[in-house]
Amino acid sequence: MKKLLFIIVLLLLVSFHANAGDKIGIPAKGGYPEYLFLEKVNKNEAESTAEMISKALGKGRLVIFAQMGKLTDPKLGDKGFTGDVFVEQWKASLEAEFMSASPTQKRIIDKLIWAGKLAMDNNQDRLNVKGVKWKHFLPAKWARETGLMFNSRTGIVTKQPSINYRHPSNVPDAKETEILTIFVKEGTAAKAQGEFAMMGKQKVYRYFDPIHLMPPCLACHGKPKGELDMLGFEKDGLNAGDIIGLISVTVAVEK
Ligand code: HEC
Repeated sequence: MKKLLFIIVLLLLVSFHANAGDKIGIPAKGGYPEYLFLEKVNKNEAESTAEMISKALGKGRLVIFAQMGKLTDPKLGDKGFTGDVFVEQWKASLEAEFMSASPTQKRIIDKLIWAGKLAMDNNQDRLNVKGVKWKHFLPAKWARETGLMFNSRTGIVTKQPSINYRHPSNVPDAKETEILTIFVKEGTAAKAQGEFAMMGKQKVYRYFDPIHLMPPCLACHGKPKGELDMLGFEKDGLNAGDIIGLISVTVAVEK
């Protein structure tokens, strides 16, 4: 009996050591594409869908950007900038844009609006604190959190990869690094571009839309490079008009 136990332990140890030799941190093989993607669009609609999502995120960022003065006012407690208030302004800025959306695109945009509202609601406790100026809330954070919830309902991936990314989830992948490098070279002339690709077994459309800096962004992303901004990050040393990053959208395409 003891001998048998000894052999079992020995076998376990050997199999453990065999696993230890495997490469760590590589994508798992196999799987069904449906596991990752719930929403899929027709090939002909892929580019316009990705563009809509990117534009909607950009507009949402602008709506929040316009409220930053109020949101960072330490004298105010309840700012009244709830998910509902935000969505009303966001939808107004989107209306003309999405008149021609197909039923699938309308459903996807509705899910994005749901996610954007939730992201705003989730930050109410943080935003309504009195006596504090910076509450660690800004357009990029809203877009990131919206993207997470949008992803959980659709599978569609949105990111804001950047040259010097502040949030780890914005680390550019190989393709995003390549596009960012091109955009930085092109500067103000950089235009959104996209392409079909594979994500595992799933055909996807990847879309990359440059984000340019505006003067108020420079308080954190401007000069002098390396000086700490008000949130404690080192400034990027960039100018207004420079590319800081991109909105990256990955949409699954039907067979
Ligand atoms: C108060 C400082 C501050 C200002 C002003 C600011 N940002 Fe940022 N930016 C940040 C922080 C902090 C993050 C990380 C947000 C997160 O995901 O939680 C960030 C993230 C980003 C990202 C995503 C990549 C990353 O670093 O994670 C982009 C793109 C970006 N900012 C662009 C802009 C633009 C464009 C403006 C002006 C409209 C702007 N920022 C204004 C501090 C700032």
